[in-house]
Amino acid sequence: MGVAVDYLFSQTLGGWKPYREHDTVLVVDFGGQYAHLIARRFRDVGVYSLLVPVDEFSREVVEEVRPKAIVFSGGPSSVYAPNAPKVPEWVLELGVPILGICYGFQLLALMLGGVVERGKGEYGRTKIRLVKNDMLFYGWDSVEVVWMSHSDYVAKVPSGVDVLAVSENGYVAAFRVQGKPVYGVQFHPEVVHTPKGRLLLYNFAVRVAGCRATWKPEAIVDKLIDYVRRVAGGGGRLLAAVSGGVDSTTAALIARKAVGKRLVTVFVDHGLLREGEREEVLGLLKRLGLEPLFVDASERFLSRLWGVSDCEERRRIIGEEFARIFQEIVERLGDIEYLVQGTTYPDVVESGAVKGADRIKTHHNVGGLPSWLKLKLVEPLRLLYKDEVRRIALSLGVPYEAAYRHPFPGPGLAVRVIGKFTREKLEIVRKASKIVEDVLKKYGLYYTVWQAFAVVGDDKWVGVKGDRRAVGYIVTVRIVLSEDAMTADWARLPAEVLDEISRRITWEIPEVTMVTYAITTKPPSTIEPC
Ligand code: XMP
Repeated sequence: MGVAVDYLFSQTLGGWKPYREHDTVLVVDFGGQYAHLIARRFRDVGVYSLLVPVDEFSREVVEEVRPKAIVFSGGPSSVYAPNAPKVPEWVLELGVPILGICYGFQLLALMLGGVVERGKGEYGRTKIRLVKNDMLFYGWDSVEVVWMSHSDYVAKVPSGVDVLAVSENGYVAAFRVQGKPVYGVQFHPEVVHTPKGRLLLYNFAVRVAGCRATWKPEAIVDKLIDYVRRVAGGGGRLLAAVSGGVDSTTAALIARKAVGKRLVTVFVDHGLLREGEREEVLGLLKRLGLEPLFVDASERFLSRLWGVSDCEERRRIIGEEFARIFQEIVERLGDIEYLVQGTTYPDVVESGAVKGADRIKTHHNVGGLPSWLKLKLVEPLRLLYKDEVRRIALSLGVPYEAAYRHPFPGPGLAVRVIGKFTREKLEIVRKASKIVEDVLKKYGLYYTVWQAFAVVGDDKWVGVKGDRRAVGYIVTVRIVLSEDAMTADWARLPAEVLDEISRRITWEIPEVTMVTYAITTKPPSTIEPC
């Protein structure tokens, strides 16, 4: 198969093409960290979207997808850089509405004969002023706040182009080719910091391009079930490793509906779960009718991890141990032919696109299952974003708390202990994380943040407990806001909430004498400490 054909197959669900049933926006990804956000926003407003990395963009792709609109995303390059990604000129002749964003805006300017130069740059919240009415800005006031992130700027607009908005620093913030639905915006309408950005994307897709907003993830459950029946048509059983997270649970539920008892659900406790999580997950799976095969492998994992200081080494050990356990299960059960995975769309796009639904490949969610397991992959969620999976989960009866549970890394609490891995430190993070979650729930804040947990390392702080000098651990609390874990901001919580977290941790965990709050964004930091 040619690259484009492979790529296109990866955008189907085993051959089912949502882009044939729904008006579709094709987002050309120039490597910007925001490309997925753009695609997600269109789906949020009911318009199906798919992402094509710029290297895969071709006539075949356009002819197959027949997009009603095309978006050029932002990207890290300068349009004048030697290997700056470009799109062919013919895309402007298709007659399909186009919206260039940031890098895409500058590229459009260049393709149309304008000039792009390096300037002072604009970063963060910036005001823009609309200077010409246009449907793209329907519902916008004449001055609005947008999010900028650029150093190059459009120094000279191409002829035949109307400037629609300028920034407070005097840069062109938006333009339109006269008489054509071809637009560029310098700012990022896809991020939440552009308050009317979602409206702009809706205006572009629906009001300008005439897309019908028919996309609703809950409505495709039958398609997902059909897909599983089709790709798992052999006689063997299907194995679903479930963590209690929304992706794996939803994938297993769909598979159960598709093949009934041919599905075997496995839940492994690696000893690195949060407090009470084992019982919660077992209860949830049972309520959902998934009755898991439960493997208590805590001692097996932990005995290999004690004393290991390097976090990556711990990840490796955990991956290896998972693989062994799965191998044992597969050998024991004998007739497992398929592996059900909760892979979602960003993984599909990022792992190089090309994946036939029935291709055999290494499992990457449950700690790297080896390809020698020779299981055929079944990935019912492969075209969906996590928020869409959550909506589907709710529609299948998954309780809200489970559908909107915070993401939790596969290696669990092992990545929240810095330095030597000890039982004492593991217990400290387990208890402290529970306190963090409890306090957030008490104040109604848990579902407003992306992740919230505690971390412990080897540093100590001198304290006074009951009039006596005591040397104890420092626990760092990390509570972040994020939309996709690619970027994150620390949560500005009320002082009383942080105070209660600190008091409860030092009071209930005697080994801790200091609580700190992590106030670094991602980047430059990461969400987990290691
Ligand atoms: P970082 O720390 O890279 O995390 O900012 C981004 C997101 O990924 C999660 N994470 C992991 N998930 N295995 C996983 O399944 C891992 O080894 C792992 N490390 C980080 C993290 O919780 C956050 O949501």
